[in-house]
Amino acid sequence: MGVGVKTLSLISLLLCTVIHAWPATVNKTGSTCTIIPADDGTDDAPAIISAFEQCGQDGSIMFMNETYHIESVMQTTGLSNVTVHLYGTLLWGTDTGYWRNNSLQLGYQNQTTAWIFGGNDITFMGHGYGTFDGQGQTWYDLAQNVSNLAGRPIAFTIANTSNSVFSGIRFVQSQFWTTAITHSENLLLEDIYVNSTSNSTWSTINTDGTDTFYSNNLTFLRWSVTNGDDAIAPKANSSNLLIQDSIFYGGNGVAIGSIGQYLNEFEFIENVTAENIICYSCQFIGYVKTWTGIQQEYPPNGGGGGLGYAKNIVFRDFVSINTWNAIAQITQCTSYVGLTGGCDTSKFQISNITWGPGVGNTVTGYLAELQCSGAAPCPNITLVDGLNLVGTNGTERQVTCSNVVDPTFGCTGSAE
Ligand SMILES: *[C@@H]1O[C@H](CO)[C@@H](O)[C@H](O)[C@H]1NC(C)=O
Ligand SMILES: *[C@@H]1O[C@H](CO)[C@@H](O)[C@H](O)[C@H]1NC(C)=O
Ligand SMILES: *[C@@H]1O[C@H](CO)[C@@H](O)[C@H](O)[C@H]1NC(C)=O
Ligand SMILES: *[C@@H]1O[C@H](CO)[C@@H](O)[C@H](O)[C@H]1NC(C)=O
Ligand SMILES: *[C@@H]1O[C@H](CO)[C@@H](O)[C@H](O)[C@H]1NC(C)=O
Ligand SMILES: *[C@@H]1O[C@H](CO)[C@@H](O)[C@H](O)[C@H]1NC(C)=O
Ligand SMILES: *[C@@H]1O[C@H](CO)[C@@H](O)[C@H](O)[C@H]1NC(C)=O
Ligand SMILES: *[C@@H]1O[C@H](CO)[C@@H](O)[C@H](O)[C@H]1NC(C)=O
Ligand SMILES: *[C@@H]1O[C@H](CO)[C@@H](O)[C@H](O)[C@H]1NC(C)=O
Ligand SMILES: *[C@@H]1O[C@H](CO)[C@@H](O)[C@H](O)[C@H]1NC(C)=O
Ligand SMILES: *[C@@H]1O[C@H](CO)[C@@H](O)[C@H](O)[C@H]1NC(C)=O
Ligand SMILES: *[C@@H]1O[C@H](CO)[C@@H](O)[C@H](O)[C@H]1NC(C)=O
Repeated sequence: MGVGVKTLSLISLLLCTVIHAWPATVNKTGSTCTIIPADDGTDDAPAIISAFEQCGQDGSIMFMNETYHIESVMQTTGLSNVTVHLYGTLLWGTDTGYWRNNSLQLGYQNQTTAWIFGGNDITFMGHGYGTFDGQGQTWYDLAQNVSNLAGRPIAFTIANTSNSVFSGIRFVQSQFWTTAITHSENLLLEDIYVNSTSNSTWSTINTDGTDTFYSNNLTFLRWSVTNGDDAIAPKANSSNLLIQDSIFYGGNGVAIGSIGQYLNEFEFIENVTAENIICYSCQFIGYVKTWTGIQQEYPPNGGGGGLGYAKNIVFRDFVSINTWNAIAQITQCTSYVGLTGGCDTSKFQISNITWGPGVGNTVTGYLAELQCSGAAPCPNITLVDGLNLVGTNGTERQVTCSNVVDPTFGCTGSAE
C-alpha cells in the first residue's frame, strides 16, 4: 500500500509542477494513516473518510499542522481502538445551499450534522491546538436570529460511541450547535475550547457548546465556552453527567433541556452535577426548561405535550459575574416562534434540583425565577443557605416562585 501511495504521490508531485494542484492523499504507514491535504483548497473530506476506512480499526489517524478544507459531509462510524491526532485546522466551506441540502440527520428534532463520528475505544486528541473552524459567521448572517434553520448543521456529532476520550480540541465559529452526543456512554471530554462570536448584528443563537441525548456517564472537564446559547445542554434521556472546572462567557450557562417537546413521549434527565463553574455575563447559571403540556406546531421550533422527569440535578460551587437574568431558572413555559400560554399545563415532572453554594452577583438582582407547571409542581427544590448573591446595583435579592412545593426559602413574588 505504502509503495502505491508513494508512487501516486510522486505522480502527483510531477503533475503538480504542470498543473499546480495536489489532491488530498492518505499516506498509510503500518496502521497509521496520515492525511495530506490538497494544496489547492479542494475538498479533503473524501481523503479523510478514506483514512478512517483504512486505519479506523486498531490504528491511528494523523491530521498534520495544515488546513484541511471540508466541502462535503462526513460519516466515520464503527471505529474501534483508534487514536486521532488533530494537529491542524479543519475548515468547513460556506456553501450553505449544499450543507442545508446534504447535512446528515441526527434523528431528533429534525437536526442535522456535517460530521457524524463514532465507535468504541477512541482517543481523539487536539493537543490544545487542533481546531474545528465552521466559518459560522456566514451562518449567523444567513439565519438572522431565526432559531433552528432547517439543515443548518451541527459541527460534530458523536454517535453510538463508548469508552472514549476527546481532549484538547478547539471549536471556533461553529455553524450551529458545536457538538452533539447521542446514543453514547462512558465518555470523557476534557480541555475543550468553544468560541462562536459574531461580528455582525446577527447573534450566535443555536451555537450550543454541546447537546446530549440517549447517553449515560459523560464527563465534561475544563470546558471554555463562549457563545450565544446553551453552554452544555443535557436533553432527552441523559443520565450521570458531570460538568466540572469550566468557564462560560455569555450564553445560557448549564441548560437542562429543553425537554418535553414530543407529544406523549416519555423522556428523562437524571443525575447531573455541575461544579466549579465560572460564568461571565451568562443569562443563567443553571437553567431547567420544559415545553408546555400542549402541542403547538411541530419540532424543532414547535411542539410540547411531552412526559417524563428531570431529577437529581445540582449546580454547586459556582462564581457568577454579572449574570443577566437569574442564577436559578426553571421554566415550563417553553415554546418558540412567539407562541405563548399553557404555562401550567406541562406534566413533565421536575424535582430535586439544588443551586449552591455559589458566590457572585446578578445584573438584575434576581437570584431565582422558578416557574413550575400547575399540572406538575416541583418538590425538593433547594437554594442552599448562604447563597448570598446580590444585584449589581445593590438591588434587593429576588426569588420568584410558582408551584414550588414547600420551598425552604422565602419567595418574594410569583414567577411567570
Ligand atoms: C509518507 O510516509 C513515508 C514513510 O512514513 C514518508 O517517508 C513520506 O515522506 C510520506 N509522504 C508524504 C508526502 O508525507
Ligand atoms: C489497538 O491498536 C494498536 C495499533 O494501533 C495495537 O497495537 C493494539 O494491539 C490494539 N489493541 C487491541 C486491544 O486490540
Ligand atoms: C503549526 O504551524 C504554525 C505555522 O504555520 C506554527 O506557528 C505553529 O507553531 C505550529 N503548531 C504546532 C503545534 O506545531
Ligand atoms: C438544494 O435542493 C433544492 C431542491 O432540491 C434545489 O433546488 C437546489 O438547487 C439545491 N441547492 C444546492 C446548492 O444544491
Ligand atoms: C426538517 O428539515 C428539512 C430539511 O432538512 C426541512 O425541509 C423541513 O422543513 C424541516 N421540518 C421542520 C418541521 O422544520
Ligand atoms: C464512566 O466512564 C468513565 C470513562 O469516562 C469510566 O472510567 C467509568 O468506569 C464509567 N463508569 C461506569 C459506572 O461505568
Ligand atoms: C472569543 O473570540 C473572540 C473573537 O475572536 C475574542 O475576542 C474573544 O477573546 C474570545 N474569547 C475567549 C474566551 O477566548
Ligand atoms: C466578520 O467575519 C467575516 C468572516 O470571518 C469576515 O469576512 C468579515 O470581514 C468580518 N467583518 C468585520 C466587520 O470584521
Ligand atoms: C442516579 O444516581 C442514583 C444514585 O447514585 C442511582 O441509584 C441511579 O441509578 C442513577 N440513575 C440512573 C438513570 O443511572
Ligand atoms: C437528590 O439529588 C442528589 C444529587 O443531586 C442525590 O444525591 C440525592 O440522593 C437525591 N435525593 C433523592 C431523594 O433522590
Ligand atoms: C442595574 O444596572 C444596569 C446597568 O446600569 C441597568 O441596566 C439595570 O436596569 C439595573 N437594574 C435594576 C434592577 O435596577
Ligand atoms: C424529596 O426528598 C425527600 C428527602 O430528601 C424524599 O424522601 C422524597 O422522596 C423526595 N420527594 C421527591 C418527589 O423527590
